[in-house]
Amino acid sequence: MSAALAAARSSGTPAEPMIDVTGLVKVYGGNGDDAGAGVVRAVDGIDFHVDRGEFFGFLGPNGSGKTTTIKILTTLLRPTGGTVRVGGLDVVRDPREVRKMLGYAGQSIGVDGDLTGRENLRLIGHLYHLPGSVVRDRVEELLEVLQLTEAADRPAGTYSGGMRRRLDLGSGLVHHPPLLFLDEPTTGLDPQTRNAVWEYLRALHRTERMTIFLTTQYMEEADQLCQRLAIMDHGRIVAAGSPPELKAGIGADLITIRLPQDEGFEASRARALALAQGVPDVSGVVEFDQGVTMRAGHGGATLVEVLRRLEADRIRVNEVAVAPPTLDQVFLQHTGREMRVEEVRPTSSGPWARHRRD
Ligand SMILES: Nc1ncnc2c1ncn2[C@@H]1O[C@H](COP(=O)(O)OP(=O)(O)OP(=O)(O)O)[C@@H](O)[C@H]1O
Ligand SMILES: [Mg+2]
Repeated sequence: MSAALAAARSSGTPAEPMIDVTGLVKVYGGNGDDAGAGVVRAVDGIDFHVDRGEFFGFLGPNGSGKTTTIKILTTLLRPTGGTVRVGGLDVVRDPREVRKMLGYAGQSIGVDGDLTGRENLRLIGHLYHLPGSVVRDRVEELLEVLQLTEAADRPAGTYSGGMRRRLDLGSGLVHHPPLLFLDEPTTGLDPQTRNAVWEYLRALHRTERMTIFLTTQYMEEADQLCQRLAIMDHGRIVAAGSPPELKAGIGADLITIRLPQDEGFEASRARALALAQGVPDVSGVVEFDQGVTMRAGHGGATLVEVLRRLEADRIRVNEVAVAPPTLDQVFLQHTGREMRVEEVRPTSSGPWARHRRD
């Protein structure tokens, strides 16, 4: 091993980011030139870095380039252009050394159906040469977190899609690497398991000072877990920063007005929409199934004015709310579209089925 490699592997320079990406491009199909038919520019020139010990996220809708990026960072895919350094090493030049540092739980199933759930997890621990007692403890802990204890002694081949998904995630978590990549770790999980996984990841990050790179389609997941995130759309980073920074960048609160669901509802809603549009400081007024929502620079004061106008027009109001901006609005502002993803029902429609509300 070269001196530079040894230095990079032992700890690297503290100032150097754990992940450093410059001008990354990935084109599928063709010869790297995106003029032809059937050519997809999945990652379109992105720059970002992740500091050591940071919990960093890629948030983006289907097809925005999250998996492509994570596969390049984990050496599973070669970039078309740009440079990627992980732990101070170039992923194209030193893929083997890079792989030694990282753990990866991907979107596809990587479990052995003939082995039981417990055996699958233990196997991973032994492959990484962890001491037997550590393997036992971690495997039991993960089976618990992933709610697989009861099914632990059944062959994984008999598991439902959701159970396989959980086992797959567990495989990426057994060996506690210094750098952990998770591709949509909680897609397809029920809310209760999702919360348990969040808790587990937070604890890993805190106690082991792990660097974690996660991709997600869930605003709340990014908001809850990530210290910093990049929002992806069509292969580009459209916004980056900490969740509070990104929200502050919107510079507006969200006002929601719910109207009584009586026979006059639709007429009242149309009227409320028109009235709200005339209020200074209000922008982005939209109807939804229970009323109208809008943005306002000064939520509280503007709400008072909106309500005054509604009252003058004899429109009855059921409920009002003013909320600071959400990551959803950050996405909307940067892309002109909403990125709502509904909860997934793993058993009825497959573990990765996603349902858009819009
Ligand atoms: N092997 C491939 N060959 C051709 N096109 C591909 C390939 N893999 C991905 N793509 C395309 O590249 C784009 C980005 O895909 P990618 O899987 O990186 O997105 P994603 O953000 O992970 O989406 P999802 O949330 O659905 O997992 C998409 O348009 C996709 O169809
Ligand atoms: Mg993906």
